[in-house]
Order: sequence, then C-alpha cells, then structure tokens
Amino acid sequence: MEVKRFIEEEFPIEAVSKESAKEKNIRRGQISTLHIWWARRPLGASRATNYASLIPAPRDQAERRRTERFIADLSKWDNMENYNMLGIAKKDILKANGGIPPKILDPFSGGGAIPLEALRLGCETYASDYNPVSTLILKCTLEYPQRFGHSPRKEAHGLVSPKSPNTLTKDVAQWGEWIFKKVEKEMLRFYETDRDGSIPTTYLWARTIPCQNPTCGAEIPLIMQFWLANTQRKKISLFPEVSNGAINFRIVGTGHDEMPRGFDPEKGSVSRAVATCFVCHSAVDGVTTRSLFSKGKSGNRMLAVVLRRGGEVGKTYRVATDRDSELFGEATEYLQKKRKALQDEWGVDPVPDEPTPEGKGSGAERAFSVQSYGMKEWGQLFNARQKLVLLSLSEAVRQAYPEMIQSGYAEDLATAVTTYLAFLVDKIASSSNTLSRWQSSRECVADTFSRGALPIVWDYPETNIFGGASRSYHGLFDDILLLIDRLSNIETSASVSQGSATSLPYPDSFFDAVITDPPYYDNVPYSYLSDFFYVWLKRTVGSLYPDLFPTPLTPKKDEIVAYSNMEGGLEKGKQFFKEMLGKSFSEIHRVLKPNGVSVIVFAHKSTAGWETLINSLQGSGMVVTGAWPIHTEMPGRLRASGSAALASSIYMVARKSTKISTGFYSEVRDDIKKHLEGKLDRLWGEKIVGADFLISAIGASIEVFGKYEKIIDDEGNQIQAPKLLEDVRRTVTDYAVRKVLHNGFSVEITQMTRFYILWRWAYGELEVSFDDAHKLAQSVGIDLSKEWNRGFIKKDKESIVVQGPEARDLSTISISKELIDILHCSVMLWRKGKLNELSGLLKESGFGNSDTFYRVAQAIAETLPSISTERKLLEGFMNSRERLREELREETVQKRLFE
Ligand SMILES: C[S@@+](CC[C@H](N)C(=O)[O-])C[C@H]1O[C@@H](n2cnc3c(N)ncnc32)[C@H](O)[C@@H]1O
Ligand SMILES: [Zn+2]
Repeated sequence: MEVKRFIEEEFPIEAVSKESAKEKNIRRGQISTLHIWWARRPLGASRATNYASLIPAPRDQAERRRTERFIADLSKWDNMENYNMLGIAKKDILKANGGIPPKILDPFSGGGAIPLEALRLGCETYASDYNPVSTLILKCTLEYPQRFGHSPRKEAHGLVSPKSPNTLTKDVAQWGEWIFKKVEKEMLRFYETDRDGSIPTTYLWARTIPCQNPTCGAEIPLIMQFWLANTQRKKISLFPEVSNGAINFRIVGTGHDEMPRGFDPEKGSVSRAVATCFVCHSAVDGVTTRSLFSKGKSGNRMLAVVLRRGGEVGKTYRVATDRDSELFGEATEYLQKKRKALQDEWGVDPVPDEPTPEGKGSGAERAFSVQSYGMKEWGQLFNARQKLVLLSLSEAVRQAYPEMIQSGYAEDLATAVTTYLAFLVDKIASSSNTLSRWQSSRECVADTFSRGALPIVWDYPETNIFGGASRSYHGLFDDILLLIDRLSNIETSASVSQGSATSLPYPDSFFDAVITDPPYYDNVPYSYLSDFFYVWLKRTVGSLYPDLFPTPLTPKKDEIVAYSNMEGGLEKGKQFFKEMLGKSFSEIHRVLKPNGVSVIVFAHKSTAGWETLINSLQGSGMVVTGAWPIHTEMPGRLRASGSAALASSIYMVARKSTKISTGFYSEVRDDIKKHLEGKLDRLWGEKIVGADFLISAIGASIEVFGKYEKIIDDEGNQIQAPKLLEDVRRTVTDYAVRKVLHNGFSVEITQMTRFYILWRWAYGELEVSFDDAHKLAQSVGIDLSKEWNRGFIKKDKESIVVQGPEARDLSTISISKELIDILHCSVMLWRKGKLNELSGLLKESGFGNSDTFYRVAQAIAETLPSISTERKLLEGFMNSRERLREELREETVQKRLFE
C-alpha cells in the first residue's frame, strides 16, 4: 500500500523560510567555506525537506501540528548539531522505513547540501554530479571527514562523540603548516615589512591604458572609484594629482590630509569600459579600450598599500613606493625562472595555460567577458606575484603527498589530506586574482565568485597571504579545518561518484527517495566557472584522481545547461536542456522504488523554465503530489536587484504511481478549481507573494491534473498542459487581484487595470522577460503584442517594462477612458500642484467619486516597496483626496442648485 509522506500533505513553509533566509547571513561553519560552488541550497531547508519526505503523513491534527513544530526547529542553524533532536529525527526515519536506513540519492549534488543533510539524518546516502570539481567537493564533504575524521577511541568502540579529538583535522593542520613554512620561506623576500613595523596585507592595483589623444598619451589608471575605506568611522580615499603630464596619487581623509573640496571619490576614471584621461580629460570609448587590452597595450600600476601593525586593530594606508614596485619586479623575475624549472619537471606549464571561455563561442557569454580584455588563458587572471605564490603552493602540495606516504600514511588517507590542501590553493586562487575587488565598505577583499560570473575588474587588490589579514593563508585555512571538524561528527560516509544524471549506474527500484536540485536553463554556467579551479586542481591533485582529470578542462558535452553556442542558438540550447532533463527524470523514475518519492527543487525565475520542468517530469511517468515554496532570500534584497527573480525555491514532490488513463476536461477543471481554493488561501496566509505565488499555484494545480495520462474534452480532443496552465493562471490571477483589492470591486475594473495591478504585485517595477509578461497578460485576457508601445506597456529588447506615472507621456493619456491612465495623470497633476486641472480631470472622467478608483490606487501603493517613488506619489495623491472630494461634492451640489 502506498504510504503518504509528510511532505505530501504538510510543510511549515513560513518557519523554514525564515530559518533559510537567516542561514544566508551566516558564514562561519558554512560548507561553502570549504570550497565555493554555485547555487547552493540552504542546509536548514535541505534538512527539513529530507526529513519531511521520509516520515509518514500525520494521522491527526495534533500530530500534524507537533510535527510541523519539530520540522521548524530541526531547520534551525543552531540545531544542526543538536544530537538529541537529530536522534529523534533518525529514529522517526528508521521507524518509517522498517528499521533500516533508507537509501537516498542526489544525482545533481553540486556542493552537497542535500546529501549532507540526508547523511546527518542517518540515511544511506548516494551523491553524484557530472562536474569533477563538484565531485571532489562532495568527497571532501560527505566522504573523507566521516571516514577518516575519527579518533582512535571512537573507532575502537564504534562510538560517536562530537568531542573526541579529530585525527583528520590534526593531519590536515600539520601538513598545511608544513606547506606554509616551506612556501613562506621562499616567498617572504618579495614582501617587506615597513620600517615602522607595519606589514603590508594588500596591494591595490589599477589596470592602465595609454590616452588616445595624440597630443597627450598619458597613462590612464582605470579606477572605478577612489575609496580605500568608506566605513562609518573611516573615510579614506586616493586623490589623483596631475603634474607635468603625469598622474600621481595622495591619500586623503581620516588621519591624512583633508579631503579636498569638491572631490567626489565615487567618480572614478572608468565606467562601462569608457575611460577618461586624468591629464587631458579626453575619453577612450569602450571598443577602443577593449582593443587596447587585446593588443597587449594595457598595463598595471600599483597605487596603494594596505597595512596592519602587529597588536593593533584596524588597517592603515599609504601610497605605493618605488621599493614596492622593485619587490614586485623581483618576484616577476623569479617567477620566470621557477616557472621554467617546474615546467621541465612536470611536463606542463605550472601556470594554467588552458583557454578561458570564449564568450560567444562558449555559449556562456553572459558570464564571461575576460577574453575581450586579452585574458585568453586561465593563468592570465593572475598578476606575476600571484602566479608565483600559487605555483609555489601547488608545488608544495604535490610534494606533500609522497612525504606523507614516506612517513607511513595509508594512500587513501594521504589522498584525502592532500585534497584539502589543494582546496586551500583553490581558495587562495579565488581571492588572489586580478578579478577580485577591494570592498572599501568593509576594508577587505571580496571573493571573485561572489557572483556566478567573471566580469572584468579594473582596479583590484593583491593579497599578501603571509600577512595575516582576512584572506591570508591561515584565515582561509581555518575555515577548512573548522569544517573538517564539524563534518567528522557525522557517523557514516556517503557514496560519492561522478557521472551524468541521464545514465545512473544503479539498478531499477533501488532508492527510497531521490531528492535533488537540477540546473535551471542558462542560470549558472557551472562547467565554465569551475574550470577556474579545475586547472589548478589538475596540477595539485590530478595524479591522485586520474578518472576525474583526464581532459584539459571540465567536461561540457552532457552538462544540462542551456548554452547558446549550438547550431540553432539558445533555442537549440533550451531544446537540449529539455531533452536531457527529461532523460534524467526517466532515470530517477527507474531507480526509485515503487513506493519511493522524489523531491525536486526548482529555483528558476521564468515561468517557461518552470513549465519545462513540469513537462519533463510528467513525461517521465511521475506524478506530482505536492509543491512547497521556500524562501531562501530576504524579500527586500531581490527587489533591489533590477530584474525579476524568484525569492523562493519550489520543492516539488513526485512519485511513481500509475496514472489514471483518461480525465474529462470539465471535471478536471472543476477539481483544479476546488483544489486551488484551499491551496491559494494557504499560500496567501504563508505570505507567499508575487511571482512566487504564481509559480507555487501552478505547482499545486499539477497535483490534480498530473494524475491523468491524458485529458480530453467532450468531443474527445486531447487537452494539452499549456491550455490547462492557462486556466490555472486565470484562476490564480483572479484570486490575486481580489486579494490585493481586499475583496473589493474586482469585477468592475477593466483588463488593462487588472494587468497593471497584477504586474506591480507580481514583479514590482522590474523588467520581465517577454514570455513571463505574455503569460501574465494572457491570464487577464490581454494580447501583449497588441498592447505594447501603446499605453504603459513598453518593450525593451527581449524584456517588458510596465511604466509608472512618471515615465509616461501625459498629453496622450489624459484623453483616455482607462482607469489606470486617469490615475497616472491624476497623480502627476497632483505632484505638479495643478489642483484645478486635477479636479477637472476627476470630474470629467467620473472617477472622482468612484471608490474603485481609490481602491485601485491604494492597492497598487501597497504592493510597492516603501522606497518606491510611485508608491510615494500614490500615497500623496490619496492623502489629498478627501479635500478634493469635498471640493467636487460642493461643486456638484452647487451645480444641482443652479440647474
Ligand atoms: C543547482 S546545482 C546543485 C546545487 C546543490 N543542490 C547545492 O546545494 O550545492 C545543479 C548541479 O547539476 C550539475 N549538473 C549539470 N549537468 C549534469 C548532469 N548531466 N548530470 C549530473 N549533474 C549535472 C551541475 O554541475 C550542478 O552542480
Ligand atoms: Zn590624455
């Protein structure tokens, strides 16, 4: 008999969302500090959804509430190592599974959040990913700490004590120190302590180009902005000064010369590749700038040095001196010698000479532009001293392994220890390159991969990793040691492997659950991004993992991402994505036990991506039995980011049950309506709004129509999913408009006004892809392509924007009969203080005394964030409405009297 799981009926969305959003702000102890991976899921949400997928549905209301509270608690960061609570969770799971640990698979494991939490809950866990860098991360997260991180006592007694001393941490720490000493000894002469005892921790550089004005030709340091420290207490900046046709810098601000009057440190010398000469003020356009870079006519200039003094807190700044450049020059010379020697020894260039992504040619051009700036090889993302340090570290990591073997380590333990050391090299590489940024607001170096892209950076910091500041050797190493320690507390290890989810190496009906988070269209070009690390890992530990590093770069062929470099462009890429995703769902279906469940996480912002996922899932023979949106971002943050994004991830539950062969459209439609009624109230109650609400509601509707093999109408015609989804969207948007208007007047308003309200509610003031905009329009019966560029709907390349009152041409709209047009006109007249005109317009249009009119204004204002100008305008207008109404009423009365 089919036993329903808890997650198919219930889930504490709001509580778990809150914990997940909180978790995003925690750094210490996050598995991402072991090694970066993109689009990681929060651990709390993973723990909660894993657990809820493995225990049975509640028998009664009391159990339902109790379990919901338990899940909410379990998802807390602070309960990650609450052994009491984990013990209860494990017991529940064992009980539900007949006393043996369930077998769980994540075939798109990435950084390993989902399988890690399965492991923590005592499951027999299988983790794989197509990407070899991810696979190594999985080994270091889910296998090595649990296998080797045992104290002898713990092993002997089969006991698990979170407090027992950890031998793996000890080993890694010891060999990390061995490497540090070796490399520091060799490198220290390229960094000099200042006479007053201050240690340089970071050198700040700018790329340079020559001014193109033939009468000038000065060097232009490309600087985005001049701030060095821009905190509450410290305002320190570089100040450019021109003398004799050359540019020099001074440091001004707190503790230095006063900031010159009129100087704005925000205004740098370059913006969007357009550079301005400090000397003659002529501009170099973007095309020329790029061509100077690719022709090798660019340079580098050290501008300033950040220092710390032993025993003192806080950083100090000075301009770069000739001595600083001299030391750098010596490092450059030494690099040449050392690189040559190592090349002879290793048979490959120790500085990665593999090509960077070609932009267009890779199909991932959104993420990469480095080639147009002349960085054609991965090694060219580092300056000379950074290269020197990295290759010296790599050399030491390679030497460590045989040393360990010599001193009696077993091969697999030595491999594990060496891999953590190689991760440290990766961590250093990812913060010591010329695409990292100096964060003046925090006075530290920001990691290059804080975003899933590698854009050009004009002025960059170079860390002295021996200098003891935040991105120094030990700073980064401590993160690794802490994680090994924590991860070792989990008793069992996972089975980790590399491979494509489209062909899984497991027998049929093997798993109790497949819980996974597949890629989303073209969101993240994983393989290209990970090549940054692959090329270093190949050099440090490639020989220990011959199966993972056989190719020059990471494999791309079977990666499930929609790239645009196929013949047929992005459309073809999307097609490929669909097919491959479909294949992997069929595989999931195959390896799942008849009674098993699958949870699939979806976090793409587009409705099209969502529908693709649904179709692929339907096609694989699975039936969706639940869908829960979990916020993983703080709501405010996304709104600020410019284009529409989903604040939630949808956790979709599916199973293998046999489908009902035929459903009748009219009945299915009624069932969907009924099902949605309850669901929508629930979602609204859990504060799911906007695009998240739309997508979640669609998820809920599939719980109904996904049960049928096919659905036919009265004439026997088959009804396809898009038609059903259109119905669903109509129901959902209708509900939303009613809710936004607080149940008032929604029947009285026109389609265009409905659309406007919906848009502001769903997307605020963001740009949205044509496809999503089209679907929203369709749900209220508007054909978008007929409407754009007529009224407030504007097309901008592939996106749609909905204009607010300020952006519109009032002369054309004042004659409109459309509520939203009159509203826009009214608020602008109000703002300009043209109150007579305003009351004229309100009177003529008949909206002045219409409650609907003001209700709409109120509703739109409420959907917008408080900083929005449109909201402020609407609110201002509404505040003056009583007076206006008075005036209008008086006039009407007077008119009546005189008529
Ligand atoms: C959304 S990420 C998973 C993130 C993960 N849940 C985490 O928390 O770190 C999707 C993953 O799918 C992987 N992937 C892409 N194509 C694949 C394929 N054909 N087979 C298996 N994994 C693939 C990518 O390398 C990426 O790591
Ligand atoms: Zn010039």
